[in-house]
Amino acid sequence: MAGLSEPAVRRALPKDAERLLEVSLRAIRRSAADHYRPREIEAWAGRRSVAGHRWMIHNTAVLLAEVNGEVAGFAGVALQQVGHLQVGEVDQLFVDPDSGGRGIARLLLTSVASLARAAGLTALHTHASWRAVPAFERLGYERVEVEAVELSDVTLTRVLMRTRL
Ligand SMILES: CC(C)(COP(=O)(O)OP(=O)(O)OC[C@H]1O[C@@H](n2cnc3c(N)ncnc32)[C@H](O)[C@@H]1OP(=O)(O)O)[C@@H](O)C(=O)NCCC(=O)NCCS
Repeated sequence: MAGLSEPAVRRALPKDAERLLEVSLRAIRRSAADHYRPREIEAWAGRRSVAGHRWMIHNTAVLLAEVNGEVAGFAGVALQQVGHLQVGEVDQLFVDPDSGGRGIARLLLTSVASLARAAGLTALHTHASWRAVPAFERLGYERVEVEAVELSDVTLTRVLMRTRL
């Protein structure tokens, strides 16, 4: 049987939006499930849509990692202020649970940092889920503060993190 190919990183295209939504929902419902209550998980998942992913692809730099031609994960960064996003905001990081623990997030965050550096940015920040905090820390981000965010009728906590490039 053929093995897994090396992950390849490329810019996401509008046609990828549906697949990115699927990956993000699987990541939230499976990988983050130990860190939030079921109502919080569903409130978080319920905010996502194909249209939202298309908006991100058009307005931010979204990178995806493919393994054997399948999307294994993706990450996005705002290279300029757009909508609710500030310059240097890493607002997406999702890895399919079936591809977790194999360095996909590391590859994506390293690629995001290279892209941002090439665009002249000197720092990045993110609002990390509790599940993602250790991964961001391994990539050099530091915790700034815990934030509370209102989603529908639940309040989720997350962590503002920053890194210098
Ligand atoms: C968080 C997430 C992106 C991690 O993806 P991943 O591909 O499994 O992560 P990686 O294998 O690339 O790990 C990156 C580094 O973080 C470390 N790491 C990851 N999870 C960890 C954990 N729970 N505890 C300690 N270290 C952890 C890894 O050991 C690795 O370090 P190393 O490269 O120095 O060995 C993934 O689990 C996910 O999509 N979670 C659900 C959605 C989510 O919370 N997204 C973030 C929104 S802000």
